[in-house]
Amino acid sequence: MSRRALLQVCAGLLLTTALPAGAVRAAPSTGYRITATPARARLAGLARPETDVWTYNGTVAGSLVRLRQGVPARLVVKNRLSQETTVHWHGIRLPNEMDGVPGLTQPPIKPGESFVYEFTPPDAGTFWYHPHSNSLEQLGRGLAGAVIVEEREAVAVDRDLLWFLADWRLTEGGGITARFGNRMEAAMSGRVGNTVTLNGRVSEAEAVRAGERVRLRLVNASLARVMALRFDGHRPVIVAIDGQPCDPHEPAAGRILLGPAMRVDLMIDMQGEPGRRYGVIDDFYDGLSYRLTELAYEEGPPLRAHPLAASLDLPRNPLPEPDLATTERHELTLQGGMMSGMMMGGGGMQGGGMMHGMMGMGGGPAWSINGLSMTGDGHAGMAPALTFQRGRSIMLTMRNETAWWHPMHFHGHSMRVLSRNGVAVPHRQWQDTLLMAPKDVVEVAFVADNPGDWMLHCHVLDHQMSGMMTVLRVDGSN
Ligand code: C2O
Ligand code: CU
Repeated sequence: MSRRALLQVCAGLLLTTALPAGAVRAAPSTGYRITATPARARLAGLARPETDVWTYNGTVAGSLVRLRQGVPARLVVKNRLSQETTVHWHGIRLPNEMDGVPGLTQPPIKPGESFVYEFTPPDAGTFWYHPHSNSLEQLGRGLAGAVIVEEREAVAVDRDLLWFLADWRLTEGGGITARFGNRMEAAMSGRVGNTVTLNGRVSEAEAVRAGERVRLRLVNASLARVMALRFDGHRPVIVAIDGQPCDPHEPAAGRILLGPAMRVDLMIDMQGEPGRRYGVIDDFYDGLSYRLTELAYEEGPPLRAHPLAASLDLPRNPLPEPDLATTERHELTLQGGMMSGMMMGGGGMQGGGMMHGMMGMGGGPAWSINGLSMTGDGHAGMAPALTFQRGRSIMLTMRNETAWWHPMHFHGHSMRVLSRNGVAVPHRQWQDTLLMAPKDVVEVAFVADNPGDWMLHCHVLDHQMSGMMTVLRVDGSN
């Protein structure tokens, strides 16, 4: 099946003809040309006006990048925007100079210029790409796409689907509400929008067939919206988080929690009745639940009488296992936000200008990590808060002392999640984006094996811009 055909299936066209029964495996490619460019998109359906967006290759979501585990990839990114940009390959463990953080890992790509990203993805799984330059606005205007790194051996499913979820703040006229970086929002939950799209459009229904097994890759590409998805009448099984396989398990209370920038791969055996529809509900915010889409079963007999017998386990990625007996311990404490003392006073501030009116109510940054606030986006002169010797096992205790949720993203590494609020986390979970509830204390561990200066920040992008960002150094010199 061609990549285009796959995208059409993913785009949720309600197919009236039979769905392809075979595993959908578009050919991965090792070379991509990706142009950041303005375009127009019909996000909210035919009845609503088009929206001016910024895109990768003219579409929302941007071009799907399919790579193969362990095979070198080359991606030429051209900038046709009127401002600088970069591309960050979120969650992929790649060399530091390919990480896409302006000032820290590469010079920004100026308008009209190109940059070649070359890396060999070590891990199979679901990742995504987005700018790291003026990223609150650039992501908020649509610059984002998925990266699927294929396993060496095909996984036994009938269809492999992607739901690339994004949240937009649209005006009545179909425009994107300007004024990114509202200081009040930045100190609270961030820029949560009013329109959620699935593969680039508001979805009424996604066609499925009774009896099929679907691998469903969820990506939350929102600026700030946390999601909690429930699949009425179904029992999805989580098989990977942030691209990294875990022990297959059903989510607690049937709700799949998906913070901004997180990915979850599900396996779903479609056990509903032919011809019926089942809601997919996001009920994260109290009193603001909405129907993301519906699973619309085709008429016609089930594909098979009993669920596939094949195992739900995905092959593990080659992640270095931290040695818990010799870990070096560090703490990262998140502070600030509305309802904290920090909003009333200053707080230490470090680095880079680009405040863009993102100050806290007291005139300082709204957030900090370990008492320091790096503000804006990636920029030169970001001094590391912690330095690790290459190869050391590191245990981080992350404390959220704020009253708000934060999806904390660490570049260049995946972190083994050990415990949350003193309770061991089961299912051998690894994450690159750790969603922290208010007051959570989470212990993670990883091997600092990837040399370079790596950003760690909240992926609620107005939080990042207003101080919830730092840099961790892995010293490669010995
Ligand atoms: Cu997806 Cu530093 O980001
Ligand atoms: Cu945050």
